Amino acid sequence: MKSVMFVCLGNICRSPVGEAVFRHLLKERGLEHKYTCDSSGTSAFHAGAEPDPRMGMTAEKHGIPMDHSAQQFTKSHYEDFDVIMAMDQSNYQNIIKVSQNHKLRPKVHMLREFDPQAASADAEVPDPYYKGGLEAFEEVYEIVHRSCNKLLDELEAGNL
Ligand code: 4NP
Repeated sequence: MKSVMFVCLGNICRSPVGEAVFRHLLKERGLEHKYTCDSSGTSAFHAGAEPDPRMGMTAEKHGIPMDHSAQQFTKSHYEDFDVIMAMDQSNYQNIIKVSQNHKLRPKVHMLREFDPQAASADAEVPDPYYKGGLEAFEEVYEIVHRSCNKLLDELEAGNL
């Protein structure tokens, strides 16, 4: 089984929707026996909390249930997961600070590396938390869905 960890800051908006969408795609494609996934945040601000209701409503609208309890990204996660997906540059920098082991770095990617509509490989999934409106959450959902689809294509092709 290959394991994929989605990481954002609070683990209540972007990374738990990444996990939920990826799990949904695994079901759709009959690939649940090949992959596991989880999500976490580089901060412990919201540890133990459920997903932000705005993100939950948005995912629900697209038929994707979210069921996650926020947790902080740890050194064990860094060592144990096969693939780690950062939502933005700040997440990426904070992930690689968790261990001095440089050999682990190649497994860390920006999720939008896999977004066919991203302008560049270092494009970010924008943080919707302080934007307030549901449009920001819808935009996150669309980006995450496109990117996870391509990510799964690449995993299946053996490209990471
Ligand atoms: P997330 O969004 O990183 O996508 O879960 C945020 C959630 C909470 C905060 C910031 C971003 N916060 O500052 O509390």
